[in-house]
Amino acid sequence: MIGIYFSGTGNTKYCIKRLTKQLDASADIVPLEQKNIAALIQKNDKIILGYPIQFSNIPYIVREFIKSNQILWKGKKVLCVATMGAFSGDGAGCSARLLKRYGAEILGGLHIRMPDSVCDSKLLKKSLEQNKRIVMEANRKIDSVTCQIKDGRYPKNGLHFVSHILGLFGQRFWFYTKTAGYTDKLKIHENCIGCGMCVSLCPMKNILLQNGKAVAGKRCTMCYRCVSHCPQQAITLLGNEVKEQCRLDRYI
Ligand SMILES: Cc1cc2nc3c(=O)[nH]c(=O)nc-3n(C[C@H](O)[C@H](O)[C@H](O)COP(=O)(O)O)c2cc1C
Ligand code: SF4
Ligand code: SF4
Repeated sequence: MIGIYFSGTGNTKYCIKRLTKQLDASADIVPLEQKNIAALIQKNDKIILGYPIQFSNIPYIVREFIKSNQILWKGKKVLCVATMGAFSGDGAGCSARLLKRYGAEILGGLHIRMPDSVCDSKLLKKSLEQNKRIVMEANRKIDSVTCQIKDGRYPKNGLHFVSHILGLFGQRFWFYTKTAGYTDKLKIHENCIGCGMCVSLCPMKNILLQNGKAVAGKRCTMCYRCVSHCPQQAITLLGNEVKEQCRLDRYI
């Protein structure tokens, strides 16, 4: 077994680590950006694949990852795990349908609610106490799903036809263009001090330092990793001002 995740602000990494370790203490847990990922997929029959939901869809980097490794999925048994701030409808189903197309067997789907990662919008913001409770509830769900899986029963969150309709018309259809590719909408503001942290964190290598300032490219996958870590709060994406940086270590 192997746990593979894409994680912007740490939520998905945390969930995949907890679930995978409880199911198989010796399993590797790796980010999908890791260089030897194809070899690791080849070596493992059972895969737990986790990612954050964006507008009831999978992040474009995850879609590309599944497609670019399409010959490797044949015969693999995959549990699809989606973390989300509130609602996705069929978050797990989005990758499950794609993986099935490439010959994978879908073991199940799991949805886990976590703190919202959109740092520059107040929409889903919660208090510290509320976020702590959300993480405790996530822990409970992961632990109970672990017992279920050990009994041979996989959760089926997001795999049903009704979930598909809810995900599609609840959000995905209306916001489809947001996740149909990478975006050039990342904004780096004047107060950037050129520390380079965003450059080293970006999974897309979408930020460069030029003349002592960070400069954004056109291949952002909207993960919010740079936004949530910039010491100057100088980066925004969907909004124009950082409201609160999403940092999981404050909620555990
Ligand atoms: C661009 C973007 C869009 C999002 N859209 C949704 C959404 O449609 N529904 C939802 O419940 N959460 C949404 N979220 C929240 C994240 O899915 C959630 O916070 C997730 O746990 C973040 O995981 P990570 O820390 O591993 O990146 C969105 C986050 C981002 C950055
Ligand atoms: S992390 Fe912030 S301050 Fe540092 S280089 Fe990036 S934008 Fe500038
Ligand atoms: S630019 Fe920032 S938000 Fe976009 S992919 Fe890179 S780290 Fe993520």
